[in-house]
Amino acid sequence: MSAVQLDLNNIPKHIAIIMDGNGRWAKSNGKARIYGHHAGVEAVRKVVETCTELGVQYLTLYAFSTENWKRPEAEVNALMELLVRTIRKETPELDKNNVRIGMIGDGHSLPKACIDELEEAKKMTSANTGLNLILALSYSGRWEITHAVQQIAQKVQSGELNPADISEKTISAYLNTSAIPDPELLIRTSGEYRLSNFLLWQSAYTEYYFTETLWPDFDKNELVKALLDYQKRERRFGKTTEQIKVR
Ligand code: FPP
Repeated sequence: MSAVQLDLNNIPKHIAIIMDGNGRWAKSNGKARIYGHHAGVEAVRKVVETCTELGVQYLTLYAFSTENWKRPEAEVNALMELLVRTIRKETPELDKNNVRIGMIGDGHSLPKACIDELEEAKKMTSANTGLNLILALSYSGRWEITHAVQQIAQKVQSGELNPADISEKTISAYLNTSAIPDPELLIRTSGEYRLSNFLLWQSAYTEYYFTETLWPDFDKNELVKALLDYQKRERRFGKTTEQIKVR
């Protein structure tokens, strides 16, 4: 399968990915789990490259969920170190490729070294106009919605907002993704068929693509396969097929 078959006029603006299966990939290779996360970084590099080539505007990667804090301390620490090192090492190349780095999630719960590295990377790439690479770190959809509700409630309490004026737009505006369009395509690897608290509000109309492939084996070909599958689908947003064709 090659990229030639892809309709380049129908590439999603925003692709979100649940990168799953690093641990199982490591196990199947007789290695420690962290080895799988290292291999996962290589897959991230390939997918970022392909998204840049195809003109994808936003790529959101679920790199560390709120629930991931419950993993053994040694794995959490190793993952945080890997993140810091990867951001430091990759940012200059990403910058050269016009990639803009962003983050969603509970920044306050991350180690200082991680926040500092991210802030530096965000600053260095802030003027770039190519792919927006958004890392979801210490992120969960329920956390994000809860946080938004707290902020909206404060506005109501201070009299700045009338409850009757709270619309879907208001809620979207208080989410971490306020400046980002909803993803058209969400990919999950490793044969798990769950959303696992990722982009709950934003994925109301998103197309899901599940693959058995473990994240470290996910490459350009795999992404093209997901895009070809996406391009076969008809996105109706609640309308009938006839209404879509008329428009
Ligand atoms: C899921 O596999 C993967 C993670 C929780 C971490 C993802 C992190 C990376 C790919 C590396 C860093 C990424 C960036 C963006 C720099 P798992 O451990 O749940 O695998 P399992 O389900 O097989 O145990």
